[in-house]
Amino acid sequence: MSILIKNGRIITSTLDFEGDLFIEGEKISALGKNLSVKADQEIDASGKLVFPGGIDPHVHLEMPFMGTFSSDTYETGTRAALFGGTTSVIDFILQKQGHSLYEAFNEWSGRATGNAVGDYSFHMAVTDFNEDTRKEIEALVNQEGITSFKMFMAYKGALMIDDRQLTGLMTEVKKQGGMVTAHATNGEMIDFLVAKFKEEGKLSPLYHYLSQPEVTEAEASGRFADIANYTGCPAYIVHMTCEGALNAVRNATRRNQNVFVETCIQYLTLDASLYDKGFESAKWVMSPPLREKKDQQTLWAGLNQGLVQVVATDHCPFFWKQKEMGSEDFSKIPNGHPAIEHRIELLYSEGVAKGKISLNKFVELTSGNAAKIFGMFPQKGTLSPGSDADIVIFDPLKKHSISAKTHHMNCDYSAYEGWELTGKCEKVLLRGKVVIDDNLCLVEKGNGKFIKRNKVSGKI
Ligand code: URP
Ligand code: ZN
Ligand code: ZN
Ligand code: ZN
Repeated sequence: MSILIKNGRIITSTLDFEGDLFIEGEKISALGKNLSVKADQEIDASGKLVFPGGIDPHVHLEMPFMGTFSSDTYETGTRAALFGGTTSVIDFILQKQGHSLYEAFNEWSGRATGNAVGDYSFHMAVTDFNEDTRKEIEALVNQEGITSFKMFMAYKGALMIDDRQLTGLMTEVKKQGGMVTAHATNGEMIDFLVAKFKEEGKLSPLYHYLSQPEVTEAEASGRFADIANYTGCPAYIVHMTCEGALNAVRNATRRNQNVFVETCIQYLTLDASLYDKGFESAKWVMSPPLREKKDQQTLWAGLNQGLVQVVATDHCPFFWKQKEMGSEDFSKIPNGHPAIEHRIELLYSEGVAKGKISLNKFVELTSGNAAKIFGMFPQKGTLSPGSDADIVIFDPLKKHSISAKTHHMNCDYSAYEGWELTGKCEKVLLRGKVVIDDNLCLVEKGNGKFIKRNKVSGKI
């Protein structure tokens, strides 16, 4: 099967030209102006943008967490991602403390295999680093293509590891050619603040926000960067939200350290005033919490300064009933919100259409940099001969609005209900197949493939 996409505005992290793109089988075989090739199918992309399928390197599908499971399965979550132009996701395997990494890998593979609609890979979150788990890292990197290892510096008593384990894990991951990523907030400080507010009877979602002040993130981000620098391990901070944390990285990069930063679409577009809505604010209970307008400004600037390389979602949806587990106590509200479907359209509408970022930057942030950082480039994250034909055909003028009534995520509320957007994914191709066409998904569960990733250099 071959497809010719004609007369589109073709954008990658570096290209921007009007032309054609030729696909044979699962791969892109040529791009250029007025390609003279015969194809089985032609798609007219006049007036449309043509860019690489998105990569969301931070999602939680069917994740056991805080006494429940995040509500999107591999099927519903990756399908919703496709509707929003995201063709690949990287999910987090959570090791169970006291158990092996491979046990968790098998459990997550079991949920994903045969169910994912879009392509996927895994990060391994190590929640118990010891001599046994250390020995598993080599095989995960070399045999399974899992080359990134996550550490939680918070969620004390559940997922958190201490600095001793953190240092050991970084040392081993560096040796094996991998990357460490961190949820970088100070778990001890947060634990103290949560306990203090609860003792004082302050139990509403607002106190979730107040128990994770900016300093908890700034301190841990700096500490993580410093330990990574000492061990020489390439490092990546997930879901950064604030000025203090970004300044810690700004400092670290002065010594030419490889420390990458991800922010998430919600931290660029939503702010802490949403914690003023009584229990309804539980919709936005996530960790770290939403921040101030000044932090949003710092993050947008950080994108343009190249200090923040990736915009992800931290998609971790829960039904309202699940959120109600914390109606009497904010610390029991499952942390996370639905976003996987809206990242690309929100970043286009709020970023490109409003003149905050360029189109090339938009592609870097939604696919190109994640592919490079996590060892998938140039298979994913670009449009070049030999790359997977993961492609979004995007109408930059189409207006539409977000609602839980129309989204495809398995969640009964939207964090962006009623938002009006400019620009919409019209067609999405995954490995040479049209998977989304005008609001219809044309493929079934099992269509998604596991992406084995390469070792990382820590350079992009
Ligand atoms: O609130 C969040 N972020 N939930 C998912 C788990 C995590 O910390 O990434
Ligand atoms: Zn076990
Ligand atoms: Zn996190
Ligand atoms: Zn997360």
